[in-house]
Amino acid sequence: MTTIAIIGTGNVGGAIGTAAVKAGYDVVFAARDDEKTRAAADAAGAGMASSLRDAVAQSDIVVLAVPYGALADVAAEIAPVVAGKIVVDPTNPLKADYSGLATAADTSGAEELAALLPGARVVKAFNTLFAGNTANPEALGIQLDSLFATDDEAAKDAICGLSSSIGFRPIHVGPLTASRELEAMAWLNIRLQLISNGSWNTAFALVSPPEAALTKVA
Ligand SMILES: NC(=O)c1ccc[n+]([C@@H]2O[C@H](COP(=O)([O-])OP(=O)(O)OC[C@H]3O[C@@H](n4cnc5c(N)ncnc54)[C@H](OP(=O)(O)O)[C@@H]3O)[C@@H](O)[C@H]2O)c1
Repeated sequence: MTTIAIIGTGNVGGAIGTAAVKAGYDVVFAARDDEKTRAAADAAGAGMASSLRDAVAQSDIVVLAVPYGALADVAAEIAPVVAGKIVVDPTNPLKADYSGLATAADTSGAEELAALLPGARVVKAFNTLFAGNTANPEALGIQLDSLFATDDEAAKDAICGLSSSIGFRPIHVGPLTASRELEAMAWLNIRLQLISNGSWNTAFALVSPPEAALTKVA
């Protein structure tokens, strides 16, 4: 069985972890607060690890559901055990005042993460989906897209399997550098909600995606 480590117990970690358990994955939570970790694990029907490193060591897929600003610390913590593993980056590198992206135009949070974890198979995914939609993918009455970017074939297969088992249509939008656009898309969606006082459930569904972007899941 595929084991997924969920690092972080907030909106995104809880939503992906709960959905992954329902989809039949073996899920283990880890975070910096033991009580919150236990609560998230219990709510999801998942297990918990005593440390981030322990969670990653026992997993095939690692989801870093933490703020962008925490990625460097988390990466340093898991670096010794993450080689060869699929690392899912759902973070959005927003400025603290929500005025835009904190990254330079010629990079992305995911590329920064990949540079910190050179042995890992990094994939940008779930960042364009609000956590409420990830927790309930069918609520809007149409199938939503899980847009992802990666250079790695194994990561591509893994995220296709995870996304489709949760209920999304996975679409490979390009190499990891396409994370720049995925992060910009997420910011566009977030800004729309901020300026319209919205209900935080807008989502992307691409019309007529090219066949090559739709990976067949075994
Ligand atoms: N919310 C959404 O709809 C959404 C959608 C797509 C992507 N994202 C992105 O996904 C990421 C997580 O968002 P979220 O809404 O789940 O956030 P959240 O609810 O605030 O949860 C963040 C988690 O990260 C942990 N954390 C914070 N700082 C940390 C640090 N320095 N080291 C280790 N762990 C730390 C928190 O632990 P404590 O509880 O101990 O603080 C918490 O478990 C963000 O990067 C966000 O931009 C969010």
